[in-house]
Amino acid sequence: MTDTPSRLNTGSHDLPVSPELSRFMAGDWAASALPGATRVPAHAVAPARRARLSALFPGERLIVPAGELRVRSNDCDHRFRPHSAYAWLTGLTGEDQVGHVLVMEPSGPHGHEAVLYLRPRSPRAGGNEEFYRDRRYGEFWVGRRPDLAEAERLTGIRCAHLDALGSPAGRVAGTDRDLTVALSELRLVKDAWEVEQLQLAVDHTAAGFEDVVRALPRALAHPRGERWIEGVFGLRARAEGNGTGYETIAASGAHACVLHWIRNDGRLSGDELLLLDAGVETDTLYTADITRTLPLSGRFSPVQRQVYELVLAAQDAGMAALRPGASFRDFHRAGMRVIAEGLAEWGVLKDAEGDLHRRYTLCSSGHMLGLDVHDCAKARAETYLDGVLEEGQVLTVEPGLYLQPDDETLPAELRGIGVRIEDDLVITADGARLMSGALPRTVAGIEEWMGQLLDAR
Ligand code: GLY
Ligand code: MN
Ligand code: MN
Repeated sequence: MTDTPSRLNTGSHDLPVSPELSRFMAGDWAASALPGATRVPAHAVAPARRARLSALFPGERLIVPAGELRVRSNDCDHRFRPHSAYAWLTGLTGEDQVGHVLVMEPSGPHGHEAVLYLRPRSPRAGGNEEFYRDRRYGEFWVGRRPDLAEAERLTGIRCAHLDALGSPAGRVAGTDRDLTVALSELRLVKDAWEVEQLQLAVDHTAAGFEDVVRALPRALAHPRGERWIEGVFGLRARAEGNGTGYETIAASGAHACVLHWIRNDGRLSGDELLLLDAGVETDTLYTADITRTLPLSGRFSPVQRQVYELVLAAQDAGMAALRPGASFRDFHRAGMRVIAEGLAEWGVLKDAEGDLHRRYTLCSSGHMLGLDVHDCAKARAETYLDGVLEEGQVLTVEPGLYLQPDDETLPAELRGIGVRIEDDLVITADGARLMSGALPRTVAGIEEWMGQLLDAR
């Protein structure tokens, strides 16, 4: 038996290989080239993105790694997703991008040449056993990777073997502050292709919400109904796209007062609300981020409706404040004004002034959306939080009221109700377009929609 070469990623329980088997495995394989016309979906738009980055750093080498695997436990890794900046610049979005690096090499007085350093498909001949023995990179373990020529065709970028990368000096995305900021800010305005991808993510997400409503009878009967809902949405996300763009929040009753409730281990009760915050991430890695708060009985009770309609009014006010040139914070301020006034009207707050309403709203009410659910988070305040909206930006508007079950400032009937309504919008020349309008938002719209889906089962 041959020793396992140390460069192979094998498991302690993998069987040794005899010289005869090694020789046998090396031959008699038919050619299996990638179809010649295959291109990454962002093939046409990625060169302009690289040119915009290049213009910001003349004469400097820029290094953008796809990222490395993270151990989940023992010899098992988490599923890999390339870094968003790498995906944006290369169009490469697959799990096979582990360890790959894009280098923008200064070339000429101002520009750069992009070079992709990658681990090409390993040959099957010549004693290279990786293809059938390596659990991390082997073709027979994790699937086929392109060879260098195929990768060049896929991306339109010159490709080189990862082993040739060495340790070049330069700015590295993720550790170099200026490069990291630039890669966030360059992505603030989406091109038309990106808006299409985001619309696709939103449309699949709407289908996932419909799946959840249809599945409510099963979920209500299960001791961990929140998990059932997470699973139903996850099925849609995985079937239509890469998966969910973030961990699904399936929060029933007072769990909805926990902003990022992802334990999802609760039982559903027919007289409570369900807050579902979920998004499908496309194969191109763009994600939606939508929340609906639904009455599990199919009908809002009077007090549920009271809370819901205040959040809805806040969301309407926020969405009406979206237009190019408006300050990014305007929509949040508009929504929070409505909430504060509502709380004062209910007698929960003495008046609508100051920031005491934040005891019940907890977080800000929207963010940029794109390859990351909280997209462009490394942008400077002056270009994002303190900046103005621009045509082509995509963002969420997601006011909420989180009335904790043990909050003694609240009348008993309001305690334990959590409502968030979250939609995705793209800024247009004169306002904003609601991308997630396929899902109803009003009380009547939700009740009718739920009734139809449940009746049609
Ligand atoms: N689901 C996270 C958020 O809405 O921002
Ligand atoms: Mn959000
Ligand atoms: Mn959300």
